[in-house]
Amino acid sequence: MIGRKVYRFETLTSTNDYIKQNLSDLEDGDIVIAKAQTKGRGRRGNSWLSQPGNLYFSFVLKNNHDYQRLFDIVMKISVAIVRLFNDYGLIAKIKYPNDILIENKKISGILIETVGEKEIECLISGIGINVNQRDFSKINDIATSLAIEKNRDYDVKSVLKEFISIYNEAKDQEEIYRGYIENSCIINKNLVYHGIEYKVVDISREGKLKLLSEAKEIDIEIHEIFDDYHC
Ligand code: BTN
Repeated sequence: MIGRKVYRFETLTSTNDYIKQNLSDLEDGDIVIAKAQTKGRGRRGNSWLSQPGNLYFSFVLKNNHDYQRLFDIVMKISVAIVRLFNDYGLIAKIKYPNDILIENKKISGILIETVGEKEIECLISGIGINVNQRDFSKINDIATSLAIEKNRDYDVKSVLKEFISIYNEAKDQEEIYRGYIENSCIINKNLVYHGIEYKVVDISREGKLKLLSEAKEIDIEIHEIFDDYHC
């Protein structure tokens, strides 16, 4: 369960970094939210622009035995965000592994980090959801927000509350896996890998893409991330 305690801040460098720096004072499931971040981080070393008006939060999981695989948490968060947008009357898709898009524009991103040397001791999951931002010209309009999609503003706290309840209700990992597959737009896409065209036929429970080459009829599993496709 997440969100028994929610620590609120006006501004932080990054909610993920705050959790890392204050791990011993935080309990399993605690949430940290900031109205703005000065050094918001995205995946693959990207920055995450974090002006006020959107939702920036992270939570810590200390009882990691709840998740047999790291990909379980990726799926659980991704599916919870898709359902969150469904509740607002929007159809959102997962761009593998964990970008959330609406009509091919990014509306939410997830940054999962692990703490621990030999074993994973803690998971820190940071989530950014574009709520009230209306101008994405700085990033060439590749993103969208709830406000743009619904043409009204939203209370950021209520969006977080809704996410917490959807996340906490989802307990059946098989059902979450099905939800992840159903909402992943990479399935059935044709991709070129090492010069050969493949079709993505499945995603394994561990998060590997299963690709099938029609010409050679081979089946391979890979970890690499393809970005060059439309959702
Ligand atoms: C991505 O799509 O690249 C992941 C973006 C994750 C952004 C969130 S905002 C809250 C948390 N704090 C951060 O510094 N990053 C994550």
